[in-house]
Amino acid sequence: MMSDRITFTIDGVEVQADPGQTILQAADAAGVYIPRLCAHKELNPFGACRICTVMVNGRPQAACTTPAANGMIIENETEELTDNRRSIVEMLFVEGNHYCMYCEKSGNCELQAMAYRLSIMVPRHPYQFPDKDIDGSHPDIMIDRNRCILCARCVRASRDLDDKNVFQFVGRGKEKKVWINSEAKLSDTDMDVTDKATDICPVGAIIKKRTGYEIPIGQRAYDHKPIGSDIEEAKATAESN
Ligand code: SF4
Ligand code: FES
Repeated sequence: MMSDRITFTIDGVEVQADPGQTILQAADAAGVYIPRLCAHKELNPFGACRICTVMVNGRPQAACTTPAANGMIIENETEELTDNRRSIVEMLFVEGNHYCMYCEKSGNCELQAMAYRLSIMVPRHPYQFPDKDIDGSHPDIMIDRNRCILCARCVRASRDLDDKNVFQFVGRGKEKKVWINSEAKLSDTDMDVTDKATDICPVGAIIKKRTGYEIPIGQRAYDHKPIGSDIEEAKATAESN
């Protein structure tokens, strides 16, 4: 009987996928880390951040939205792609106001961890110091738009996992921001601290009140291991068993 598994390569390593899987999903299962920020395993792909861009048969494609196909030759860790990823992350830093040393999310922040993984020291673009607002109206949750990277995880999680549709984007270009669907304030919504949307923000833009530093610095997700290690280690562990 013929197998319906899809076979392709990433940086010369053979990877198999099930029909319908994206390149990112197949790479994860194979223990190959493709950097990403807007993708999340519980959410439908959105294709916003472009960090996951890989070369597919010589053409750039977002790994999180592109279905795996037989015979694809994919490049992931090339100098050019890594520099492209650095540039995107640097833009995210200068377009917002990210003061890592004061941020409760430091050590658990995917943007900060990505910058470390990509060895970013100083952004090549000038800081824009935009004027962004904070919504502290909700009794248990706060939104600091200074740290938002417009990944739409909260939008998708609230709509698709919480069945609430609390968030949307408003504005364009530099004015684009995550907004509240009902009126202007988070306290006007039925968002709850137990919602998936509360926990799914990759940065410190949506945080729970009164929980700051419950996990001490030094014991946080990326304090000792780079982002993506969980995916790479799962493969290494499987091979040693
Ligand atoms: S608030 Fe967080 S989850 Fe929502 S778009 Fe901004 S960075 Fe993404
Ligand atoms: S992770 Fe693919 S575009 Fe953001």
